[in-house]
Amino acid sequence: MLALDSIDSTNAEALRRINAGDGAGLVVFADHQTSGHGRRGRPWLSGPGNLHASLILDAPRGDRVGQLAFVTAVAAVEAVAADLSDPSRLGVKWPNDLLLDGRKLGGILIEGAGEHCVIGIGINVTHMPVSSEFAAISLPDEGRAVTAAAVLSAFCHAFEDWLRQWRQDGFAPIRGEWLRWAVGLGKPLVARFPDGTSVRGIFRNIDEIGALRMTMEDGTHRSIAAGEVFFDTDVTPDASRD
Ligand code: BTN
Repeated sequence: MLALDSIDSTNAEALRRINAGDGAGLVVFADHQTSGHGRRGRPWLSGPGNLHASLILDAPRGDRVGQLAFVTAVAAVEAVAADLSDPSRLGVKWPNDLLLDGRKLGGILIEGAGEHCVIGIGINVTHMPVSSEFAAISLPDEGRAVTAAAVLSAFCHAFEDWLRQWRQDGFAPIRGEWLRWAVGLGKPLVARFPDGTSVRGIFRNIDEIGALRMTMEDGTHRSIAAGEVFFDTDVTPDASRD
């Protein structure tokens, strides 16, 4: 474990460590990131006290790298559930957000580096950054004092178990556990694609590679491999400031 007070980004540091010869098993943990980033190049505000960590793994073969986000999400939700009196307030949102009361509690960013990949995880343990697109929340809203180091330790144990199961038994058990926590199943959603276009439909499932299955307004079915989803029940940043 490489525990740092401050770094630009734990993902960036993990990628540098891979270039310098480090391999699977290294965990980079920082109290503060000066240049944390999220999916689609968004900034990830990373003040002291929140969890910012990146794990180096051997890259899985083929298209299985996308499934690692689901392995990470089920481990993260399990780690955080242990700190909540009512774990049913937690949820996962496709593709890889961690929610508490419908607000964003954490996110996952996986970056590849040849033979290796880096799994970055951010969880709002002590405070919530303001996101322009999704309303955020942090664990203190639950009224318990937890530390990023304690959440990381619980996460690493859970992740090790789920990773072993994924390697042994494939995606099915991970998919089943993820669906148990999934937010919005059977509900209307808008899927927005990386090119800015969007479609409306009903969230039905995730398939055997982790793509989102939805029923369109004309009754046809569609799989979405990449994008963002928005539910009618999503808490907007404006509503969260009320
Ligand atoms: C997202 O929801 O967009 C993903 C956010 C991922 C943030 C984490 S914090 C630790 C690691 N280092 C980064 O710069 N990003 C990830």
